[in-house]
Amino acid sequence: MTINLLSKEIDTLTCPTLVVFSKTSTQSSSKKDKGPVVIVTHSDLAKKLATVIEEKTITGKHQETVTFREFNHKNYRNVVVVGLGKDAEINHESVRQSMASAYEAVKALNSKEAAVDFDGIISNTSDSNEMASFAKAVAEGLMLTSYVFDELKSSTAKKSKKDDSQLNIHVASKMANDKAVKAAFNEGLIIGSVVNYSRRLGDLPGNLMTPTLLANSAKSAATGLANMKVTIWDKARIKKERMGGLLGVSMGSDQDPRFIIMEYKGAAPSKKSVCFVGKGLTFDCGGISIKPSAGMEEMKYDMCGGANVIGTLIAIAKLKLKINAIGLVASTENLAGPSATKPGDVHTARNGKTFEVNNTDAEGRLILADALSYATELKPQIIVDAATLTGAMVMALGNTHTGYFTRNAPLKETIEAAASASGEWVWNMPLTDFHVKDMKGTFADLSNISSGKGAGSATAAAFLEQFVGEGIPWAHFDIAGTGWAVGNRLPYCPKKGASGAMVRTFVEIAKKYV
Ligand code: BES
Ligand code: ZN
Ligand code: ZN
Repeated sequence: MTINLLSKEIDTLTCPTLVVFSKTSTQSSSKKDKGPVVIVTHSDLAKKLATVIEEKTITGKHQETVTFREFNHKNYRNVVVVGLGKDAEINHESVRQSMASAYEAVKALNSKEAAVDFDGIISNTSDSNEMASFAKAVAEGLMLTSYVFDELKSSTAKKSKKDDSQLNIHVASKMANDKAVKAAFNEGLIIGSVVNYSRRLGDLPGNLMTPTLLANSAKSAATGLANMKVTIWDKARIKKERMGGLLGVSMGSDQDPRFIIMEYKGAAPSKKSVCFVGKGLTFDCGGISIKPSAGMEEMKYDMCGGANVIGTLIAIAKLKLKINAIGLVASTENLAGPSATKPGDVHTARNGKTFEVNNTDAEGRLILADALSYATELKPQIIVDAATLTGAMVMALGNTHTGYFTRNAPLKETIEAAASASGEWVWNMPLTDFHVKDMKGTFADLSNISSGKGAGSATAAAFLEQFVGEGIPWAHFDIAGTGWAVGNRLPYCPKKGASGAMVRTFVEIAKKYV
């Protein structure tokens, strides 16, 4: 598929399908009793569609799509009208979602080519920042919706056999030559395609996405990117580096662990790095404290934090951000082989702290312990991690919000601003000394499970905190509920597959340090 921004008057193109927009606007006070008016943003089509609007076939409702086949407007055969919703409520996230509707409608028509009337989306604004943010949302929304994971199906069963790769979408606008709009559109394309890259890593099953394969993928995705270096530590090196948590978790599996280090240098060496850390558990059966069979297949997604951190670093490099950034991903399987860690076993993390493994299924925090210790040694400006860490997070927030933990007020502000720029929903969760107390060990410094009741996500965060150097602003994002299967909420995410959660927000966080 190609998506391009075109500086052309929309009615001058020759193309099978045209996408225009509808919305509702509240009437002036004298006409208020008649309710909101429905507007089609393309003036010529608004006239032609007046009866259809009157009949309430087009209502302007957000994500509504009304398709007119063989309508023959100018050199277009088909016309699709996509609802933007209430005029006053249109924002970059609602536009991103409207583009999912547009994409699906074009695909349903089996069109190889379509034109999107971008000026209809920005018809109500003269704010150039808003125009740019809508341009980014359009590119991102189309790109994100185009993702399909069917490479493991035989060719006859492929859903995408209509061949999306041949679909060309032209986004036409009188603003197409505006520098900011152009840059934002390109940024949207980059971020959308990187999120799709991360989603694929998540969707690949455990046998095809091992720690070695995850590391290789990070390496090859970074090949050719300026100022980017990827280093992979194998099992022997991990042992030498005293990463007792990562090593301990890996002992139940035949697959060797990997520690992935991505370094991007886009600023002066004196500038402190922004450090991202990810949980790359390529399959989590729980280890000896084995999980129930039902739903266990979903634990192939336990590396989504890692995949999304890899994607974040790739995006930062592709956007050529003027920062220094580091991505660290601890990757292993958590299985129950003969050498597996047993409940009660004690291991030593890289920073010298010891922990009892009282439940081998609480393994994410053990591999992150080493990664966070190592991150601390690099003296970064901030550390931000992403992990599918706890089932408790799914109970607390479901698949709407990613819960994040931080005790640093300025970082919290940065995160809130970043998330409102990315459109991803985050929610600040509590982390206190009480949670820390619950993680004290009986025979070692720490226990990997809480001695208290409930607050499983906060006590996991409190465990992680023990490995972050004092004074380094740190935030932990638990994406257990948002990492995959969010499609009942977000139209540009696959219903069941990986979502790529937090790549967009992490890139926005990185931009704050330019
Ligand atoms: N990977 C899981 C967390 C998870 C569960 C993510 C369900 C998404 C959906 C993690 O390794 C785990 O098993 N955590 C345990 C911790 C418990 C034993 C303290 C959990 O949440 O049950
Ligand atoms: Zn687990
Ligand atoms: Zn896990």
